[in-house]
Amino acid sequence: MVKVEVLAAEKQKRQAGERAAQLVEDGMTVGLGSGSTSLAFVRALGARVSAGLQVKAVSSSVRTSQEALNVGLEMIDLESRLDIAVDGADIIERGSLCAIKGLGGALTREKLVALAADRFILVGDASKIVDHLSDSQPRIPVPVEIVPFGWKLTRQRLSLLGDPVLRESDGKPTVTDNANLIIDLYGVDYAQIPDLGNAIKEITGVVEHGLFLNMAALAIIAGDDGIEELAVEPPA
Ligand code: 5RP
Repeated sequence: MVKVEVLAAEKQKRQAGERAAQLVEDGMTVGLGSGSTSLAFVRALGARVSAGLQVKAVSSSVRTSQEALNVGLEMIDLESRLDIAVDGADIIERGSLCAIKGLGGALTREKLVALAADRFILVGDASKIVDHLSDSQPRIPVPVEIVPFGWKLTRQRLSLLGDPVLRESDGKPTVTDNANLIIDLYGVDYAQIPDLGNAIKEITGVVEHGLFLNMAALAIIAGDDGIEELAVEPPA
């Protein structure tokens, strides 16, 4: 991405985060996602808290917790249902709002937070929205969090479903906040996505995958022409 596009995307992420923060009401419990768009939401929510809004928040990653504490949010553990959760995504399908998440590596906690929420809202810049998940170019992998013990054999079992690649940062395996590893599953058959998620979960050693299917009620997408709010459309 050239610099101008990066700046535009950053602005859109901020706008989407700010819009989502407007949907939070006094007294709510709020789930916080991870990634740069979620951080924009956290900062916007922090500004509202500084202005008097009272909320309690649950975070989905160490990085988000740091930011949430910085901006003065009261943090609680995930022990009961949440009123609302807001998170970014790597790709979102218009219509169904099915999403793939986890390029930031926080997918398991993100899914736990999203599933706990009465209303799960996705936020993103315009690059995140596609008509069909299979439209994404280049096709993004499905991130899968796995336990480190016996990981090579887990990777081998995942190879029945796609091309599994151990995620690395600075030449070393990426370690999640849960002290696990991430396998990026490339080359999957997107047409088989609901079954694919089930097949991934059946593999021992897998903790969670990044397919967030039929979970979001709303997507807030900021683009060059303003903000689009997309609700789930019933299947045709
Ligand atoms: C982290 C995620 C993020 O939500 C996703 O990667 C989007 O990140 P960003 O808002 O920085 O584009 O799933 O696990």
